[in-house]
Amino acid sequence: MSNDLLQRVRVHGAVPAHIAIIMDGNGRWAKGRSLPRPLGHHAGMKAVREVVEGSVEAGVGVLTLFAFSQENWQRPAGEIEALMKLLEEYIAREASDLRTQGVSVRILGHLERLGPGARRAVERIMAETAGGRALALNLCISYSARAEIARAARLLAESVVAGRLDPSNIDEDAVGRMLYTAEWPDPDLLIRTSGEMRISNFLLWQLAYAELYVTPVLWPDFTRRHLFEAILEFQRRERRFGRVEAG
Ligand code: FPP
Repeated sequence: MSNDLLQRVRVHGAVPAHIAIIMDGNGRWAKGRSLPRPLGHHAGMKAVREVVEGSVEAGVGVLTLFAFSQENWQRPAGEIEALMKLLEEYIAREASDLRTQGVSVRILGHLERLGPGARRAVERIMAETAGGRALALNLCISYSARAEIARAARLLAESVVAGRLDPSNIDEDAVGRMLYTAEWPDPDLLIRTSGEMRISNFLLWQLAYAELYVTPVLWPDFTRRHLFEAILEFQRRERRFGRVEAG
């Protein structure tokens, strides 16, 4: 079934170079089964594996996943602790497979806020997978798009003060170079699971022309088949980037 969809993706048209995903619905998945919320997050790890492998199979170049927002620090301490442990578990379990698959992992966000265990784990996975060529996997952790843009403004201001940059040279490319995502193209496709119609402070600058795809599927139920369906829908869309249609 998923092989069939993959074949259709391959013949249908261009595959998005960069896919971003807001992984939502873990809490509702757990609630529906009368389980504690952290077990929903745990079940969500399998879906992460699915979309990483599916992206490699489909030939997607960059996959950016929203795993933990700066706003998520306001959740109950027990849930935050469970999410941080899960991050460490994910890294311990997946690092060598990711490396074998040629996936290079980067962690984007305000990492200074992470505890020492999580910090060590993220440094480890970035070092161990550096150089992977099949897929760039960005995990956004302690991430906020507005904070990212404010940080870019601060970095540009510091360059001006230091005499390295003339304010008249601050254009869109200059801002883009100061974002965590500087080395990758902007996402072509944003997927959000669990039916919510929100951007939730995710990649506000980079999503300017992304195609939006919202599915009611809860994140722990999301498989590579769902990823391929989203790519097929993307391939049916006509992207105009503010211009009129071609021809
Ligand atoms: C949103 O669901 C999901 C999160 C805040 C956490 C995402 C984490 C994972 C998918 C698991 C691990 C992934 C890695 C890379 C370690 P929610 O809790 O907001 O769900 P709800 O809206 O139904 O309450």
